[in-house]
Amino acid sequence: MTAPARLLIRDLAQLANPAAVNVPLRGDALGDVEVLEEAFVLCEGRSIVSTGRMRDLPSFDEDVLEFDGRGLSAVPGLVDCHTHACFAGDRVDEFALRAAGASYEELHAAGGGILSTVAATRAAGEEGLRGAVLLHRDWMLRAGTTTFEAKSGYGLDRETELASLRAIAQADGVPTWLGAHAVPPEFENADAYLDFALTEVLPEAASLAEAADVFLERGAFGVSQARRFLEACAAAGLALRLHGDQFTEQGAVPLAIELGARSVDHLESTGAEGIRALGESDVAAVLLPVSALFLDRPMPPAPALVEAGAAIALATDFNPGSAYCESLAIACSLACTQLGLSPAEALGAVTVNAAHVLRRAETIGRLAPGYDADVVLLEAPDWRHLAYHLGGDLVYAVVRKGALAWSRRAALG
Ligand code: NIG
Ligand code: FE
Repeated sequence: MTAPARLLIRDLAQLANPAAVNVPLRGDALGDVEVLEEAFVLCEGRSIVSTGRMRDLPSFDEDVLEFDGRGLSAVPGLVDCHTHACFAGDRVDEFALRAAGASYEELHAAGGGILSTVAATRAAGEEGLRGAVLLHRDWMLRAGTTTFEAKSGYGLDRETELASLRAIAQADGVPTWLGAHAVPPEFENADAYLDFALTEVLPEAASLAEAADVFLERGAFGVSQARRFLEACAAAGLALRLHGDQFTEQGAVPLAIELGARSVDHLESTGAEGIRALGESDVAAVLLPVSALFLDRPMPPAPALVEAGAAIALATDFNPGSAYCESLAIACSLACTQLGLSPAEALGAVTVNAAHVLRRAETIGRLAPGYDADVVLLEAPDWRHLAYHLGGDLVYAVVRKGALAWSRRAALG
């Protein structure tokens, strides 16, 4: 649906808006959320022009499309800064094996895991991948995600990696080239694969993606291989991100800091030194509690990271193997029950701080004049139900760029 000239979301029970900053929210500021009762959001075209209390609503002499927000609360469109939404097939058989006792790393080492999704993704073709990303985008949107990053990394050949990045961009996702996710079976080892990826794929991937990512872990890529990959990607103009400290500490945090990466993601195994170093750096710590839960792994040390001053963001890690879950509301819920964050800190981490990871914090992540009109309407009078209603069907409607993108109601009125 295209954006109406003016859209007024009125009579909201609450509107929650994280603090305004031109840097990520750290420490106490992470939980700095302004809450307005009896509120409105006025959008014009694709942007928000004003928000406030109903009693201060200006009168209009021109047509405005009105949305009745009674009983609803509004939060900014959620920003998922870490997903693997471009994949085909599923891993439900592996899920059942894990339920029977097999570990994720064992399945990976036996050639299953990521590589089984690589086989399905290669077989899907570009058309199939486009459809898959659109389907997953739709799932995310219904869960309140209005901006998503998605990684390639299930092609690992030239054609499928580039097709993945195109499919993500065509779905209006933020594409990341996860060129170093696993070593595909046609290569002897990680170095031989990197020779290929950096020569044959990077030149075109650099023009399609915003960032590059590497899975730095035992059984995947080592620290010297990660360095080689990331340095080449940075030289080609890509921002850098890392999957690090998921199962073991292999030096992802110092490497990320040295190379000026945007983020290190996972951090379930990060120790005291890594926490301290992240607290003093500009590298964001992207926490993925859904993945830790899904794999029955320890949770990342969120309170220590916040206390150390790290810029933390929360994301789903949506993928078919370690986090088959597209809901940032569930990530917020887990952040509160498992990571020791407050609902307000979780909100800051899935809005402002996630927007910073994607370098879009000036336009998304807040409900304030000048920001994109991305608004999630929750069917609850208190916005904290976002985290409280675990797995609940609480998203009533989603406005994206000033237009109703999804609603339980058929039409505006
Ligand atoms: O972030 N750990 C590496 N990559 C993904 C999982 C990918 C998969 O299992 O398909 C993650 O957890
Ligand atoms: Fe991931």
